[in-house]
Amino acid sequence: MNMKATVAVAQEIRADVPLAHDPVAFAAYLDAQEKKSLLRFLTCGSVDDGKSTLIGRLLYDSKLVFEDHLFTLAKDSRRHGTTGEEVDLALLLDGLEAEREQGITIDVAYRFFTTEKRKFIVADTPGHEQYTRNMATGASTSDLAVLLVDARYGIVTQTRRHAFIVSLLGIRHVVLAVNKIDLVGFDAAVYDRIRAEFETLTAGFGFETRAAIPLSARYGDNVTGRSERMPWYQGPTLIEHLETVEVAERLGDKPFRMAVQWVNRPNLDFRGFSGTIASGRVAPGDRVVVAKSGKVSTVARIVTYDGDLPEAGTGEAVTLTLADEIDISRGDVLAAVDARPEVADQFAARLVWMSEEPLYPGRSYLLKCGSKTVTANVTELKHKIDVNTLAHQPAKDLQLNEVAVVNVALSEPIAFDPYAENRETGAFILIDRLSNATVGAGMIDFALRRATNVHWQSIDVDKQSRANLKNQQPAVVWFTGLSGSGKSTIANVVEKKLHALGMHTYLLDGDNVRHGLNRDLGFTEADRVENIRRVGEVAKLFVDAGLIVLVSFISPFRAERQMARDLVGEGEFVEVFVDTPLEECERRDVKGLYAKARSGALKNFTGIDSPYEAPENPEIHIRTLDVDLEAAADRVVRRLVGDTPDWQI
Ligand code: ADX
Repeated sequence: MNMKATVAVAQEIRADVPLAHDPVAFAAYLDAQEKKSLLRFLTCGSVDDGKSTLIGRLLYDSKLVFEDHLFTLAKDSRRHGTTGEEVDLALLLDGLEAEREQGITIDVAYRFFTTEKRKFIVADTPGHEQYTRNMATGASTSDLAVLLVDARYGIVTQTRRHAFIVSLLGIRHVVLAVNKIDLVGFDAAVYDRIRAEFETLTAGFGFETRAAIPLSARYGDNVTGRSERMPWYQGPTLIEHLETVEVAERLGDKPFRMAVQWVNRPNLDFRGFSGTIASGRVAPGDRVVVAKSGKVSTVARIVTYDGDLPEAGTGEAVTLTLADEIDISRGDVLAAVDARPEVADQFAARLVWMSEEPLYPGRSYLLKCGSKTVTANVTELKHKIDVNTLAHQPAKDLQLNEVAVVNVALSEPIAFDPYAENRETGAFILIDRLSNATVGAGMIDFALRRATNVHWQSIDVDKQSRANLKNQQPAVVWFTGLSGSGKSTIANVVEKKLHALGMHTYLLDGDNVRHGLNRDLGFTEADRVENIRRVGEVAKLFVDAGLIVLVSFISPFRAERQMARDLVGEGEFVEVFVDTPLEECERRDVKGLYAKARSGALKNFTGIDSPYEAPENPEIHIRTLDVDLEAAADRVVRRLVGDTPDWQI
């Protein structure tokens, strides 16, 4: 039994008080649970559609509710309920919800229940617009989705959005719960119309099974018990359908994949590769390949704490030993020799954005796929998809809960499968490099072969030899600060001083570069990100040429300054924060731009209506109000050339 199921069973046992006190019954119970198959499903819909009531009904009817909980519930519904004398099941769920919220706050609630035939884990996600990211979280582990509609309103925009996201996330089985059928007088015509609309809506979504079930969660009709009030409906009840729908063990049938989480080397005689099997099965004697290097070997043993295994399958955590000594490290993917994953450093993907902070193409993020983490950026935002209408829209950035088709480039190749073939090895997350928060979830569509046939040309004269000839250590001196803070003025003096000392330099100035290379860029956040990405790349080339390159750009975002830093070697990046208070910059207003910005004639002006993120740890912090220009420039020069007592200009 896999871990997730164990946890869920344990939760259920806790809820079932008498059983927990009887070890024999407990063991027998566990055993019976293990033999049942598990269906993970997701519910989509809002409280208004009756979602809480439906889940409450499923839990209630499968007798998983505390006795005393039921008692208070009966009391509560007489007090607050909206249902008169019947027990209000939505209140039950809200109670559980409140309990859950005292623990960790996640936006997806997982609940466990069981029937004679199957075990179920239901992921319950909030339904309204802002919650695409929660749905994505719940859906990524589900086999099936129950979409809820109110029979009085039928298919609405929200249903369309849910169906799309569910299909986007690779769920292949869907049920339309046509709820509140009692409120339309159990009318067959209403149901038929909604079902037909649902079929049209989902025709292109690639679902393997689709069912539409008329039900009343409040009264229980067609949920767990067959309704006598709808003789015209011949299909299964919701629970019958959930108990019997074939979702086929998806991952077990796929080719073998295991990402190496760590290389286990307790002594010289043992070298094992530990990880969780992402898909497929493995047995001693199987030929496996290290996806990235193409090195092949044979599985010798499957080692676990409880002894060697004759075979292991999806979801199991194991340690493999191989017959040959081949190079394998953490993050490598072991795969079946005859069904290898893709290996590429660029791919096309669909991306769900989960952060308040928008995605900008060109910004660098961490991408985690399996146990491998690399740096990545979106090289092209092809289009956004309006989740309500499915229309494609052009976009420069991606906001919270938006979905887009993108191209992604990585700092090095990784192994993966297209998401359509393997939801485990084809999914990735993007992580913000500064906050470490997960900001996006992606599904890989296909590898891009662009850079595959473009190889690094080896060049004999390298950075060090170029630098030696110039008798200097190359570096990037990165001046950041508000417009009018004095960056360019200081950079200019620094360059003159370095030049006088015989140094080979180049000054890249924002205003100048924006007249040429970056002439196509404006001042939106997306354009500023691209502006800095390009100048960072140029600075890197100049460093490679052996130069001391001075960069004077507002560069308002920490993420891009970090990216520019990462492009060059350790110690080669000197960040100089030219720190002049906004009021002072505005008072000077050398170019008259602050006045324009204040009058509204100039939009997105840094410090006024566009943010500036001050450096937290710059190598040099110049408070221009406290030092004069010469002294400021000298500090920078000294940092680069050391204390040479006799230098003069
Ligand atoms: S950055 O934010 O993308 O790094 P950059 O340094 O290239 O900016 O360009 C800033 C210069 O462009 C400023 O010194 C100013 O002269 C000019 N400028 C024009 N419009 C704006 C604006 N909206 N915000 C900031 N600077 C602007």
